[in-house]
Amino acid sequence: MITVLGSINMDLVTSTDKDPDWGETVIGSQFHTNFGGKGANQAVAAAKLGAKVQMIGAVGNDAFGQDYLEHLKQYGIKTEHIQTIQNERTGVAAITLHNEENKIIVVPGANAHVTPEVVEKHKEAIQQSEWLLLQLEIPAESVNKAIEIAHATGTKVILNPAPFQPIPQTWIEKLTYLTPNESEANQLLKQYSGNKFNLQDKLIITKGEKGVTFYQNEQENHIPAPKVKAVDTTGAGDTFNGALTTALAEGTTLKEACEFASKAAAISVTKLGAQTGMPAREEL
Ligand code: RIB
Repeated sequence: MITVLGSINMDLVTSTDKDPDWGETVIGSQFHTNFGGKGANQAVAAAKLGAKVQMIGAVGNDAFGQDYLEHLKQYGIKTEHIQTIQNERTGVAAITLHNEENKIIVVPGANAHVTPEVVEKHKEAIQQSEWLLLQLEIPAESVNKAIEIAHATGTKVILNPAPFQPIPQTWIEKLTYLTPNESEANQLLKQYSGNKFNLQDKLIITKGEKGVTFYQNEQENHIPAPKVKAVDTTGAGDTFNGALTTALAEGTTLKEACEFASKAAAISVTKLGAQTGMPAREEL
């Protein structure tokens, strides 16, 4: 079983040929409401690839929240550890797509209610899982709590440090892998420059169309990304993380898991929306 602890957002996506300046109005080309949030995206990516997944998180008591719970259930994701917060909205992400790139503003809403107490309440879910997958769109104290619970019971932990914030050394010691993108990796390495303990062998750095770099026994390894025509890169990192965890949970080597996840992420960018392009197992 894989437990994903993290954010659940509805993505409000506007495509535009012109990125407006502050104070300027432009006419966009398309608008979509998509299921998103780094946590839920990673859960869906893993479930689509055949993993057994449960999610810990929160939605608001609004239409987005109810739709989202139904959506997750359709993929067989266990939702009983997702709380519905009264008088709160489901998290939203305002996304602008322009020239195959995105800008994202997340308003956490119910995600901010995923407190350490909530994590404690659902700790058995973490303890009974082989893998715990985390990101940084819920409060940092809750991520800390989950890492401690997982570490105490031997549950392996992958942290996708997005959106980036400094990562405490006490976390790094307990993590199995860290999966930053290039800019997050640069910030992380800056934070730990000169530090003796081995951060490198835990790093799996996603580099978009350039592929993925991972380290084993202090050796750098690189896997190039398959060539695809990108339509929307939103959620590519999430697809990578969900697929990586799925493969590792099946007992593959790290190299095989990175290859599998790289392919899944490449396919995911060929369709609009964070989750729409995530491949099913047969497609991969
Ligand atoms: O990683 C992509 C996700 O980031 C989007 O789905 C959006 O909700 C934000 O959380």
